[in-house]
Amino acid sequence: MAGATGAATSTSKSTPESVTHAEIVPMVWLSCGLAALAGLLFGMDIGVISGALPFIKQDFNLSSAMEGWIVSSMMVGAAIGALSAGSISKSMGRKRALLVSSLLFIVGAIICVVTPGPTLLWIGRIVLGLAVGVASFTAPLYLSEVTPERIRGTTISFYQLMVTIGILAAFVSNLLFSYIESWRWMFGVLVIPAVLLFFGALAVPNSPRWLAAKDRIDEARNVLSRLRGTSEEVEYEMGEIQEAIEQESESQGYALFKHNPNFRRSVFLGIALQLVQQFTGMNVIMYYAPEIFKMSGFDGTSASLWATVITGLTNVLATFIAIAFIDRWGRKPILYAGFAIMAVTMALLSFILTFGASTALLQYGALAMVLLFVVGFAMSAGPLIWTLCAEIQPIRGRDFGIGASTGANWIGNFCIGFFFPVMIAGIGGPWTFGILAAVNALFIVFTLCLVPETKGISLEKIEKNLLSGKALNKIGV
Ligand code: BGC
Repeated sequence: MAGATGAATSTSKSTPESVTHAEIVPMVWLSCGLAALAGLLFGMDIGVISGALPFIKQDFNLSSAMEGWIVSSMMVGAAIGALSAGSISKSMGRKRALLVSSLLFIVGAIICVVTPGPTLLWIGRIVLGLAVGVASFTAPLYLSEVTPERIRGTTISFYQLMVTIGILAAFVSNLLFSYIESWRWMFGVLVIPAVLLFFGALAVPNSPRWLAAKDRIDEARNVLSRLRGTSEEVEYEMGEIQEAIEQESESQGYALFKHNPNFRRSVFLGIALQLVQQFTGMNVIMYYAPEIFKMSGFDGTSASLWATVITGLTNVLATFIAIAFIDRWGRKPILYAGFAIMAVTMALLSFILTFGASTALLQYGALAMVLLFVVGFAMSAGPLIWTLCAEIQPIRGRDFGIGASTGANWIGNFCIGFFFPVMIAGIGGPWTFGILAAVNALFIVFTLCLVPETKGISLEKIEKNLLSGKALNKIGV
């Protein structure tokens, strides 16, 4: 089994200046735009349900069990989609996987628009979930494989920016369609970006790393020459890709996972990173913002709806902090800052709720804590976890590793969405938010001990370090 030890020779070759400073060609931006569309759909799928649900409940006279199923079916579909996306994108390629996902989006949205009753709606949500699962797996993977390393972090953060824009777009569209009480249109708008994703996916090239892994070396070189400005860049990167492929054993994916303890470490790290992202509690805010605002004394639907839109906007704006600094400050400093902000704001929110948000000052204090919490997430764990998960897996196990971590994201998402109301009912708001504060503080220690700094390091070098057995928090050195 060469995988465990075969790549033990960690070269100290550094990237030549001409490569590090080469120009970014338009095809890279086009490919980023496409993956970004997948992000937009991901966000819209998350955001649509909070606005649609009250009207669906009214129309179909839903039982609370059916209501829970309709909300959570999307996460279940997404977990299944993400877990199967590994083999889809490995056998068919990233580009075709995005095509499949766009078709599933279109079908899922149409089912939700025309459904005569709750059962078909539930099926439509599962299909939408499958689509978002495949997209949330494939888009960051594709981005990490087509962009030059110096902008890799920035482009994956850009993907997360599109997720946040999608959530905001859904919040705003929910608000607008709520005036005509049409939840069907709330789902209908999903078809527009899905159709764009379909045509976009037809236009972009395959991933050169996927082509090389499939032994289609000439095609990989051709594609890479469309994605890089100079032949020196193309040759340098092809050399790195081929070296990484040759140094690995023949076993891939699950076989590699079974036999290679070093690969198992990156798979578990990816799963842990995504669970950490979900257990920050961000989706508690995304799904239940209106209720939290009511708990903090903002009465009336319109006040809490506005507060929800402001939350969505804050999420978008704060993502720019990550985009600006991820490739300058590095991943870890931003994660420390984000977790610290989330821990402090949750602790203060718990404090305010303990004593009751009885005055206007305290109410605005609670709102400020929620918004600052969102800033903490959006500038750190939101984009960075996706970036890290796409960076830490070795090429032959990338599909499997990212599939596992993306699946974990959706399972964590499901748990948070499902258990938050149970916790609120059982132990109350102050304790629930107090626990979230403690959990976020623990994530600082997690980052210190286990998370690598991957800023400006090629994927191939990260891979060599991982497979040579270096400590996880050192594989980016
Ligand atoms: C997370 C989602 C979350 C979103 C909020 C993403 O990175 O994976 O679960 O809803 O960020 O912006």
